[in-house]
Amino acid sequence: MSTFKAPKGTYDLIPPVSVKYLAVREAISGPLRNSGYGYIETPGFEDVGLFARGVGESTDIVSKEMYAFETKGGDQLALRPEGTASVLRAALEASLHKQGNLPVKLWYSGSYYRYERPQKGRYRHFSQVGAEAIGAEDPALDAELIILADQAYRSLGLRNFRILLNSLGDKECRPVYREALQGFLRGLDLDAETIRRAEINPLRVLDDKRADVQKQLVGAPMLRDYLCDACKAYHEEVRALITAAGVAFEDDEKLVRGLDYYTRTTFEFVHDGLGSQSAVGGGGRYDGLSEMIGGPALPSVGWALGVDRTVLALEAEGVELDIPAATSVFAVALGEEARRVLFGKVTELRRAGIAADFSYGGKGLKGAMKDANRSGARFAVVAGERDLAEGVVQLKDMEAGEQSPVALADLVDEVRARLA
Ligand code: HAM
Repeated sequence: MSTFKAPKGTYDLIPPVSVKYLAVREAISGPLRNSGYGYIETPGFEDVGLFARGVGESTDIVSKEMYAFETKGGDQLALRPEGTASVLRAALEASLHKQGNLPVKLWYSGSYYRYERPQKGRYRHFSQVGAEAIGAEDPALDAELIILADQAYRSLGLRNFRILLNSLGDKECRPVYREALQGFLRGLDLDAETIRRAEINPLRVLDDKRADVQKQLVGAPMLRDYLCDACKAYHEEVRALITAAGVAFEDDEKLVRGLDYYTRTTFEFVHDGLGSQSAVGGGGRYDGLSEMIGGPALPSVGWALGVDRTVLALEAEGVELDIPAATSVFAVALGEEARRVLFGKVTELRRAGIAADFSYGGKGLKGAMKDANRSGARFAVVAGERDLAEGVVQLKDMEAGEQSPVALADLVDEVRARLA
């Protein structure tokens, strides 16, 4: 047995379960690919300053959870804890915002790293599929993203998820609210850490899960009452568009999110079967992020859905994904000559686009048929010396259990016809 293990807070994706992750990534990206989003891939690490400035120095993600390191060349880098800052950095670097229509719509899929306390649904290495629409301030864009996420989850068969929606205001109204909230928080009996948080990022205190803190927060000023007219109108339009699309959501005025770049629309997708790590996805508008990382004003909106938690949500709901067997035909050769001939047929099947596999390792009929069964293949092709002498192979339908000889030369056409 190997003495090495996957690092704490990580796990390996291995067959047969790994195919679920592929299916989830496919299902989430499908609606995006169908809506004008182009694929982008950025490095797994970036200049640490990108996240410090973008995500925010005061967030847990940056202050506690980042895998930051110095390279041999003296560069200060960090494994990416999220995708938005990187995608915007890449779009700015390639001047995508100058090359065509705005918004620039991008989607991505990859690994992210946060040094968190591991528990079910919370890992140090996890996977997201995300979307960013850069350079347009339009409530329809916010609505589009929420509707596409809803479509993705539903296409997977998920039902017990909820969409929480809020507006965090903009650079006009939020500072006024922030001050009012800080004034309120200063009058409470809070621990030192929370008092510090109240000074740096008072909105995060609203998110505190502890009952004694929540009790004191009754009567706290709410952002809703401080939104400026423009933010209010924007939010109402987002709500109206989502409603018109038949997507249900809940207004959650306490929804704050753990990243500092959000303005106006924020939302989270929560699943009720997941316990404490219930957020299967989240996102929102980040109109100031481009300027925060040195770019021009580019109001933008996006989300990221957690692949790991989506798989857990599917399991919690008992949803079995309809994943076709990886192999359609499994070839079993008995004897040296049959081996050569059938191996050639497997190559031919594969070149014809039919998923085929072969019994390797010189197994006898019984062992090889066991492998054929395990592969989930619809057909087994079996041939021995006598079949070859007659110019045939035995084609066995594994579902029906029936077997019939098929001329060697007709095998590919016959399998294709039967699979169709
Ligand atoms: P986030 O809420 O930090 O947002 O992460 C999005 C999703 O990633 C979460 O809802 C969760 O499903 C998953 N996730 C986060 N951390 C972990 C973890 N430690 N283990 C397992 N899953 C996790 C963002 O990352 C923003 N960049 C989203 C965004 C895009 N906002 C605008 N554009």
